[in-house]
Amino acid sequence: MTETATGAAGPVIPVHLVSEATWPDVRASLPSVARAFAEASAFQPKSGRLALLPGASGMLEAVLLGCGEDEGLAETPFLLGKLATDLPAGRYAIAGPLAQPEIAYLGFLLGGYRFDRFKNAESRAVELAPPPGIDAAAMALVADAVREGRDLINSPANALNTAELAGAARALAARHGASLSEIAGDDLLRENFPLIHAVGRAAGGPPRLVDFVWGDPAAPKVTLVGKGVVFDTGGLNLKPDNSMLLMRKDMGGAAAALTAAAILMGLGARIRLRVLLPIVENAVSGNAFRPGDIYRARNGTTVEIGNTDAEGRLVLADALALADEETPALLVDFATLTGAARVALGPDLPPFFTNDDSLAADLARIGAQIADPVWRLPLWKPYRAMLDSKFADLNNVGSGGFAGAITAALFLANFVKNAKTYLHLDIFGWNPTAKPARPEGGEPQAARLIAATIIERYGKNSTNG
Ligand code: BES
Ligand code: MN
Ligand code: ZN
Repeated sequence: MTETATGAAGPVIPVHLVSEATWPDVRASLPSVARAFAEASAFQPKSGRLALLPGASGMLEAVLLGCGEDEGLAETPFLLGKLATDLPAGRYAIAGPLAQPEIAYLGFLLGGYRFDRFKNAESRAVELAPPPGIDAAAMALVADAVREGRDLINSPANALNTAELAGAARALAARHGASLSEIAGDDLLRENFPLIHAVGRAAGGPPRLVDFVWGDPAAPKVTLVGKGVVFDTGGLNLKPDNSMLLMRKDMGGAAAALTAAAILMGLGARIRLRVLLPIVENAVSGNAFRPGDIYRARNGTTVEIGNTDAEGRLVLADALALADEETPALLVDFATLTGAARVALGPDLPPFFTNDDSLAADLARIGAQIADPVWRLPLWKPYRAMLDSKFADLNNVGSGGFAGAITAALFLANFVKNAKTYLHLDIFGWNPTAKPARPEGGEPQAARLIAATIIERYGKNSTNG
């Protein structure tokens, strides 16, 4: 009997990963009572099948987790998330070797998440010994960053208004010694953020732009921008009931940017990080912005409002223009920008847009490795004409109703001129159904991917920041 570092009492129960190929050997190696029970209950090593096996005294002696043909969980490292939700309280250890032990362990940690702000969930003390040789502290840091991102997305808009979302950014910046500034309400007009102001001015909570900076000023400049719409009614182009129901998640881009920033700062990435969050509520009132209004954006572009529900690209336009003024090496935005992205690729696979082919290849490769997948869509220049306006430089929606995710990306690209590389991620920000390590609800998609990609490109400081 071994004891884990946490010192809780009780035996450490082995969890055997069983594939079709290894099942005969694992079965033969089980103690006789456990083996008899597995056979009597007709356990099959199909992916995701879980069996709790008793010993002679009737106590839990071993666990089987079926993994189909995927022994070692090379393709499905997040399957271990199932252990966090399905096992009784206790201490466990994986018996065999894992193909990607860090990601598998992270999957276990992410599987244990619950949104318990308004409902006390039964707490399950399921502990898994970190697989040998991994940086368990780094994985705990990543899991905490994702947990905070999920909490922000899951929080309803009456519990997370514009001030409270800005407060979450402030708390994160303070924890890492980043310096933060904030522009709110009518100051946005004085400081030349006309679009952020126009979208957010109708709401009870004033619009804001949060800006924080961390790291060595001489290191490469990396800027993350996140769409922070705490609730999207659609504005005067009001969304119908079903489409509005989930719109508390419309700050998922800001949550993802904060999650990525938490990982980058926590692991000490060798960059000068900047985070910009335009934070608004797209609400309806007498002073709401209107279809047909024309505004001059921060960078001078005039924009005709074709639809007040295409608000995300408006607030991002001003934030991207500000980011672009200092010519960052890498400029990334995260946004729950279009329903069209979900129509194209579904909720689990966010599209991304960039002109940098080598970055695109890195994202595809790293996303697959760390179970944070994305798929490239084109910045197809000929579709730029769909955004033409008779009265302004640009319309905020594309005509014809085609290629909505692409025209949205082309709209944003209009506000980025200097950044060496620009990347736009159109995330869904939500798991519609629970899967291992991905509980139903808010998900700061692509945050881990962007942090990992940046660390691969620019490296880490020798001491953590
Ligand atoms: N926040 C929505 C996009 C969205 C909707 C994301 C549903 C995920 C699920 C965004 O502000 C929006 O309303 N976009 C419109 C744009 C349209 C008016 C051109 C859309 O996608 O319908
Ligand atoms: Mn909208
Ligand atoms: Zn929106």
